[in-house]
Amino acid sequence: MSEKQKFYITTPIYYPSGNPHIGHCYTTLACDCVSRMKRMQGYDVMFLTGTDEHGQKIEKKAQEAGVTPKQYVDEIVANFKKLWARLGITYDRFIRTTDDYHVEAVQNIFKTLYDKGYIYKSEYKGKYCTPCESFWTESQLVDGKCPDCGREVTDASEEAYFFKLSEFGPRLKELLLDEEKNFLNPKTRVNEMISNFIDPGLQDLCVSRTSFKWGIPVTFDEKHVVYVWVDALSNYITALGYMNDAHNDFDKYWPADVHVMAKEIVRFHSLIWPALLMALDVPLPKKIYGHGWITFGGGKMSKSSGNVIDPFILADRYGVDALRYHLLREMPYGSDCPYNNEMMFNRINSDLANDLGNLVSRTVAMAVKYFDGTLPVEKEFTDADNDLLTQLSELPSFVEENYESFHIADALERIFRVIARANKYIDENEPWVLAKDETRKPRLAAVLYNLLDAVRRCTILLSPVMPNTAPAIYEQIGASEANTRWEDASVEKMLPADVTVKKGPVLFPRIDIEKELAELEAMNKPARQLPEEPLKELTKFDNFASLDLRAVKVLSCENVPKSDKLLKFIVDDGFGERQVLSGIAKYYKPEDLIGKTLAMIVNLEPRKMMGFESNGMIMSVRDGDKFRVVEFPDDIKPGADIS
Ligand code: MSP
Repeated sequence: MSEKQKFYITTPIYYPSGNPHIGHCYTTLACDCVSRMKRMQGYDVMFLTGTDEHGQKIEKKAQEAGVTPKQYVDEIVANFKKLWARLGITYDRFIRTTDDYHVEAVQNIFKTLYDKGYIYKSEYKGKYCTPCESFWTESQLVDGKCPDCGREVTDASEEAYFFKLSEFGPRLKELLLDEEKNFLNPKTRVNEMISNFIDPGLQDLCVSRTSFKWGIPVTFDEKHVVYVWVDALSNYITALGYMNDAHNDFDKYWPADVHVMAKEIVRFHSLIWPALLMALDVPLPKKIYGHGWITFGGGKMSKSSGNVIDPFILADRYGVDALRYHLLREMPYGSDCPYNNEMMFNRINSDLANDLGNLVSRTVAMAVKYFDGTLPVEKEFTDADNDLLTQLSELPSFVEENYESFHIADALERIFRVIARANKYIDENEPWVLAKDETRKPRLAAVLYNLLDAVRRCTILLSPVMPNTAPAIYEQIGASEANTRWEDASVEKMLPADVTVKKGPVLFPRIDIEKELAELEAMNKPARQLPEEPLKELTKFDNFASLDLRAVKVLSCENVPKSDKLLKFIVDDGFGERQVLSGIAKYYKPEDLIGKTLAMIVNLEPRKMMGFESNGMIMSVRDGDKFRVVEFPDDIKPGADIS
């Protein structure tokens, strides 16, 4: 390449509403793999990632944690950065949507769209939950009620700004159907976008909010903050200096070569984002790739499911490269992939320990054993080498195309097929038999040389996925910088004719699957909770008998305003209704308790809490660091006494 070609690749910017998990790793690893390959190919790469820090959810989480939104995200963003460092992610730039330059640029973008007439002021109509101060659409409601608190919602409207998305339907459809541009991948997502969104008619998009504060203020109407997706999507250009002075490489890197994400946000990237760019008169990104999800036990990740899925723990115990390889190898193009530890262990044992690790260690060991580590120059190559060599020569272009188009698992599968072929080549040529016959030494040298060179070529192609293992292998097989550049994977017999090998540590120790699973499971179990208090002293039966314990039915239940501990109940005690408070708001949603029959001490003296009178005590049992109410089956009548 005379002048370096540029390559601009992005991950989504992640919400720092909670700490990163294995799910976040796939996109970032896939982008890292492609970025590393592109750099090896001589491209000037800009790999952008970052965090999407505004919005109501984060505002709420911070409030619950008793800190400011910025304090809240700062801590989590630091954890994202720590994880990317641990996983060897080579991003070039990290954008935070709270960075001043981004805030300023988004304000400029919003104002420009307003001045151009693409953003206008109108009324947002929806279903409003007053206690939650939230607008909901019809489809978000659960049984016609607020999805957050379960209460009634009312029709309401508020002033808001809208983006004229409806104008862009035809141009977006043309973009998505343009075979040459091949804008959105995999292709199946094109139909989804057209039939679910464009064909039914795109609605104008509400792009400002007044119901919360944690966002970028609209400069010309400060009670509004910019809709979080307009704020977030803009990162791909503001990070390069679009409408700000912090960076100066917009002209160099834009348009992006590819935006990578999982399927749930393809809609924002393939409809809203191009429409915003069209309105701004900015060229469109070249490609969008929406991969599937890493799923956990068929759905959401769950700490109790027996899977330790903290990526830090996995990287520490099994090695970063094994984790990188596993995630990239397992995720099929465009579809979902379940994660579980056992699959990872099997993958490590079969591909990395058995196939790759053994190939390297056997070959190096034989070179040491039969030639003291340095192969003789005289070699006898034969037609028996051809199949392995042909497979090797076809490999680089296949891997390049497949990495670049995010068929990373297919590329890896093919590399390991060639590694398996090399292992078979050992068995076919029986070096241990050749070694017994002095006249066959040139043939033995050729067989070992072919194997070392096969390892060299495969390792180059694996290096974007396993960047720490590659140098370790090069050292063992006597490869050097001069024969491990990307293009060297296409060149046959590049190792020196008298190459010297060096035994090294085991690359991938075999995992004792049963033992590891048991250890991870033990780590997942909370330590046994010892009772907080020692057993109490003996007491008279009369003391117990003086308590009036009854089954009561919960008629209503709600949070006590300004208290994150207390729930206020109205219960039927069999004789009438009474109000009682209980400090279990952290463990239950009020609506989940309504209708339940619970155990209660009904003759405790009344007590005031947070301005409300409590008449009795609902009984709960400790469960680790939580409490659970003592419940009876539905057919137990309110007022039934407990003895
Ligand atoms: N902030 C938005 C994105 C704005 S981009 C302009 C957002 N953030 S997110 O934190 O929810 O991240 C979503 C992305 O994280 C997915 O699109 C995907 O790239 C990655 N993943 C998070 N969980 C995942 C899985 N379980 N499986 C695969 N990828 C997932 O949406």
